[in-house]
Amino acid sequence: MSQKFSYSVGIGVLLLSLLWTTLAVAGEIRYIPQNPLEGRRVFINKGCIKCHAIWGEGGTIGPDLGKVGFGRNIFQLAGALWNHSPRMVEKMLERRLPRPTLSEQEMTDLIAFLSYLRYLDEPGDPQRGAQLFREKRCIVCHRVGEEGGTIGPPLDQLKRFVSPLLLAQTMWNHGPQMVFTMRMMNIPRPQFQGKEMVDILAYIRSVARGTAPQPEYIQPGNPVEGQKLFHKKGCDVCHAIQGVGGTRGPDLGKKQLHKSVTEVAGIMWNHAPQMEAEMQVRGLSFPKFSQQEMADLISYLYFIGYYDESADPVHGREVFVQKGCLNCHQVEGEGEAIGPDLSRSELLTSPIAFTAAMWNHASAMEQWIAERNLSWPVFEGNEMADLVRYLQTVQQKMSQQ
Ligand code: HEC
Ligand code: HEC
Ligand code: HEC
Ligand code: HEC
Repeated sequence: MSQKFSYSVGIGVLLLSLLWTTLAVAGEIRYIPQNPLEGRRVFINKGCIKCHAIWGEGGTIGPDLGKVGFGRNIFQLAGALWNHSPRMVEKMLERRLPRPTLSEQEMTDLIAFLSYLRYLDEPGDPQRGAQLFREKRCIVCHRVGEEGGTIGPPLDQLKRFVSPLLLAQTMWNHGPQMVFTMRMMNIPRPQFQGKEMVDILAYIRSVARGTAPQPEYIQPGNPVEGQKLFHKKGCDVCHAIQGVGGTRGPDLGKKQLHKSVTEVAGIMWNHAPQMEAEMQVRGLSFPKFSQQEMADLISYLYFIGYYDESADPVHGREVFVQKGCLNCHQVEGEGEAIGPDLSRSELLTSPIAFTAAMWNHASAMEQWIAERNLSWPVFEGNEMADLVRYLQTVQQKMSQQ
């Protein structure tokens, strides 16, 4: 019986993955991670944590990776890893640590994890939150602790919310009713910038009455689920992502939504009135979100632009020459054949596999470079994306011949 069961599950998974491939082809964003926190395990197992902290937890030999920004897309992150390889090895030799090599899956997870760090919020500041609670007039309608009005419900029970995303989600769902009351009372609809929502929650948690019931945590979002929700909740009726979708609202592929989760929740809140008005015109109902849905949707918005489609193969060719790859790799009949012809590499179908292979052969390159007194080739901005696109273009040309 169990065999039959696993058989039908197998078929189901197969059908699903077929469905997913077709969906993915239709102009959808590629390389969105399922669970970006998976890479935390790689970060620990490969010993990164011995030298790097994340928001203060971990080693201090390298920079705290929660605090440095290194671009938003796969190649910028792969570039940051590559660039620091010699310094890292130097420190490792001093400490006799083994040099970590990475499989494609490990590189995938690690890059998604590093990229995700900015999505998680830093802790809020309750003092600033107290000030905002007044300035934004929440205090006129809401009591929390010993102070505040009674037009809206008291907010003490929000003490259990560990993540400000839960506050954003509750406010979003109550938004239409709350805004209606505000209009009646001539109170302007509040707008949220940056960390403001995080600070307000920190304030609520610090003054709320009673002991907190079961604290509520939120699962980090699943961007792949979020991509489906973007369609299911009708966002694509008005918004395109990189050219595909509605035109009533801005193309969200062109907006910088690589921000912390609460910041993006704030941006959505700020634009809700226009959205609601547009929806009424079309007879659409205002979308409500469960906690998980809000997290999924926002993590999807966060990962837009994770795989940059706009790389420049012509510039990539220059990069390939400048970084000295021709010293060991032949492409289009030029260069030395010490390593393989990279335009024939099977790894080009997966940019992450390609960058993992680069990372793994860094030590061999280092030696070679040291012997010749050359300097380590550093990748900046989109250089690595351009280089890979160049090789992919050559590969395509060859396969058409
Ligand atoms: C032996 C210590 C050590 C280990 C282990 C180590 N690093 Fe580093 N890392 C450093 C140092 C030192 C720097 C700063 C290098 C520099 O300034 O060029 C750095 C820099 C970085 C940067 C660039 C940060 C920036 O400011 O752009 C990234 C990304 C990074 N490391 C990721 C990792 C990952 C991922 C791992 C695990 C696979 C790892 N490191 C393992 C020491 C280490
Ligand atoms: C003009 C009065 C008014 C102001 C100002 C106001 N609210 Fe509200 N709020 C309400 C009302 C009324 C409700 C209940 C809406 C409903 O029943 O859907 C509500 C509901 C909420 C809820 C859901 C509470 C729950 O228990 O489900 C939250 C969270 C909230 N407001 C937060 C805020 C914050 C934060 C501010 C300031 C930025 C604010 N509100 C400003 C009137 C207001
Ligand atoms: C009926 C049309 C419509 C629908 C449906 C819609 N939006 Fe919007 N959206 C807009 C318009 C119009 C703007 C620009 C409003 C403005 O400039 O304030 C906007 C702006 C935004 C912005 C801000 C972009 C920026 O940085 O300026 C985000 C984020 C956003 N929408 C997300 C969503 C999400 C997520 C959904 C689905 C839950 C959604 N929208 C559904 C019309 C819509
Ligand atoms: C000092 C010589 C040398 C230089 C310089 C060099 N490589 Fe390599 N590379 C090799 C050798 C040898 C191999 C095959 C053995 C290995 O993987 O370690 C290789 C393999 C690779 C692979 C794996 C290909 C596959 O299909 O398995 C990639 C990707 C790669 N190199 C990228 C680059 C890039 C990009 C540059 C320029 C920044 C570069 N290499 C510079 C020697 C070099």
